[in-house]
This record gives sequence, C-alpha cells and structure tokens, in this order.
Amino acid sequence: MSAVLKPESGNWSPTSWTQHQAVQQAKYPDQEALEGALQQLSDLPPLVTSWEIMALRQQFADATAGRKFVLQGGDCAESFADCAPDIITNRLKVLLQMSLVLVHGLKKRVVRVGRFAGQYAKPRSSDLETRDGVTLPSYRGDIINAPEFTEAARVPDPQRLLTAHARSAMTLNFVRGLIDGGFADLHHPEYWDLQWVEHAPLAKEYQSRVDAIGDSLRFMETLAEQSISELSRVDFFTSHEALHLPYEQASTRRVPRQPGWYNLSTHMPWIGKRTADLDGAHVEYCRGIQNPVGVKIGPGMDAAWVLGLLERLNPENIPGKVALIHRMGAEVIGSDLPPILEAVRDSGRPVLWMCDPMHGNTESVAGGVKTRRFDNIRSELEQAFDLHAAAGTYLGGAHLELTGENVTECMGGARDLTETDLARAYKTTVDPRLNYEQALELAMLIVHKQASVGQG
Ligand code: PEP
Ligand code: CO
Repeated sequence: MSAVLKPESGNWSPTSWTQHQAVQQAKYPDQEALEGALQQLSDLPPLVTSWEIMALRQQFADATAGRKFVLQGGDCAESFADCAPDIITNRLKVLLQMSLVLVHGLKKRVVRVGRFAGQYAKPRSSDLETRDGVTLPSYRGDIINAPEFTEAARVPDPQRLLTAHARSAMTLNFVRGLIDGGFADLHHPEYWDLQWVEHAPLAKEYQSRVDAIGDSLRFMETLAEQSISELSRVDFFTSHEALHLPYEQASTRRVPRQPGWYNLSTHMPWIGKRTADLDGAHVEYCRGIQNPVGVKIGPGMDAAWVLGLLERLNPENIPGKVALIHRMGAEVIGSDLPPILEAVRDSGRPVLWMCDPMHGNTESVAGGVKTRRFDNIRSELEQAFDLHAAAGTYLGGAHLELTGENVTECMGGARDLTETDLARAYKTTVDPRLNYEQALELAMLIVHKQASVGQG
C-alpha cells in the first residue's frame, strides 16, 4: 500500500484541530501541569507501529471489498482498575470465541479489533453532574477523572494521561505476549474456555464449530505434511474513541522512511457520534493521519453529512481508510439508513460499513439503571444485514460493547435476563455491555443472518 493521504487543503498539522471547535473536552484547572504531562507523553515510545497501522488499513480494504469481516469489541469504557490479567484474558477469550464462530460460519477471515488498550475517554451529555445540591464535573473516563462523586475525584488530573498511556501499554504488552505465546492458536481453543460456561445454552453449537475447525486444520495439515502456522495464528488490533484531542496530538508522529503522520497510540481511532461535526476539531484532527479511522453515524445525520465526512476524511478515496459505523437504533434504522447507503453507494466512494447495534438501543429502567434489550440489539443487526442486501452494499463488520466478565447489564438473551437480574452483577461505569453468552449468541446470529441474505 503506497497511497498516502494528503490532507485536502494542505494546511493540516497535528495541532490544526485547535483552530476548530472541540466539543467534549475536559477543562483542566492547571494548564501548566497539562502541558507538562503532554510533553512527557510525546517523548515516550509509541504503543503501536506504522507497519501495523498500514496492515490494518489493508485488511480494512479487504473488508471493504467483501473479502473479510471485522469484529470490533470491548468495554464501553476501560477503567484503570480493569487493567488486570483475568479481565484482559477473559475479554480476549470472548473475542476469540466469537471470531472462531464467525470464521467458521462466514467462511471468511475475520479482522479482530479490540476496544481496548486506550478506551479511556468518554463523551457525556452534560459537563456537570448535580447530586443532592452538589455540582461537580461529570465523569469523562479514567484518562480524565474518576467516577466517585467527590471533588478530588472529579477535577481533571493531567497525571491520568500518563497513567492511561502506561496502562494501555501494559494491556497491549500482555495481549501481544498471549498471542505470540500461542494463546490464540486455533489448535488450542480449549485455552479460551471460560469457567462458568459449561452449561451455557449455546455451548453445544459453539463446541460443534470448534470441533469442525479442529478437524479441518488437522485435515489440511495432513495434506500439507506440516503445521499451517500462518493460518492458525490470529492477531489483534486496538482501537479507541479519539476524543481527548491533546492526548491524540501527543501521540501523532512521523516515522522514518514513511510519508505522512501516524497516530501511534492506537491502530484505529474513531470519531464518536457527538464529535462528528464536519467543521469540528475531531474531524479536522482525523483527516490528517494515515490510520484507518472509524466514524459513528447516528440518527439525525443525513446523506449530505455522511458524504461530507467522506470528502474530508478520505478525499483521495483510499480503500480501507474509513469505516462508517452506523448506530441508529432498532426503531429508526429502517427509515434512516437506506438513504445514506444509497447516497454513498452512488458516490462510488470506498467505505467499510459496520453496524454498532448497541448505542442506538440504550434505555433506562426503574431507578435510572441504563440497559439494552438483547432483542433490540438483535433486531438492529438483522435489519442492517437486510438493508445492506437491499442496497447492494456489504456489511463488513460489527462493533460491540462486551466483556468476558459474567455481568448482567443487558436484558434478554438465551438466559432471558430480566430487569430484576440487572442488580445481580451490574458493573459498568458507563454503558451496559453484553456478557459472554450474549456476545457469543450475537456472533451466531451474524452467521445465521449473513447466510440467509447470502451476502459476500
Ligand atoms: C461509544 O462507542 O461508547 C459511544 C459513546 O458511541 P457513540 O459515539 O456512537 O454514541
Ligand atoms: Co458506549
């Protein structure tokens, strides 16, 4: 891949976003301390390399062309406390099991992108939160402040930028070590078993897919008279919402012998729905980097807006550069998505289409508890496959919030979790995540649905 993204007007720089309106930013009381932390950050080694970023862009180009499927998943918000071995391995296990189901069912290579190793910043609907007459800054993710409702916890602390970088590095280092050490080898899917799932309602279908893959691998290896290490190895990429622009800027570097600028804090930054303004700072920042970039597309965004995003972020139409992640909600996807699909299709611009069936389906139940109904998540995903099939476009990925922990945050699924079950293991600090069984169920659903629309 040699295509280099040239910012449209030529006046892009890692700081040009500061000339645009930057919404959803933390207000640091101590600017000097912030500058000091950012300077330290920009002197630290990067978390990922330009080669990996270009490899992912190539894989996104393959997925854009219908040859691959992208599974992007992880926590809504990582927390510093969750940078712990069990939590990281369990999340990896779920993603590996889901991708195994997808590879087997879709007969396609799956690109795995974790919402981890840097998913620490969150957009909020309000800058401030008031409880019992006390008003404090809202919690904006561990990279900025802490969730406890005290002044000390909520005032943005620049030292957290350095902690976020360090925890991202630790997470990535552990993931890389597990993968390189053989944890993700398709010959050993038993490494990914989670203790409590022997009796999961879907365990049987999963096991039969595992067995089938094992048989196929052994069959091919018998024919080839050697082990097929290239095929049986899997890799992982990282992603996070590129929300905290000073942090992203500090990670934006040039590398030797390669043109352009790279965000070396993650392979795939994405622009959230609340920061996707065409003239806003987030779009300005993302248009100048070589990384593949995701953009969330939600209700209220029309075809002109989406075409404007593509023009700004990928004026040269480099395949694999932009993933549009639609998150409409089960109620409105049927009316709001088709005009966008048709306009983008007719423009001929290359786009990797992904569906996030989570963020348009968040609701509050008694006591203000945030949840999502599995049936709505399922419905949005199923409708997405149908709508893409009708438009003649390829749905090349799913973007999910999930965890390997046995939580009860979303209702429904094979065990039909109810509103009263939510209290049992509700742990998220931000959005409700699919638990292991619900995530695996969704992977199976993707396989069944894609087979029924005959996509790809
Ligand atoms: C998210 O992905 O956690 C998120 C906030 O999504 P969106 O920007 O689509 O609302
Ligand atoms: Co979320």
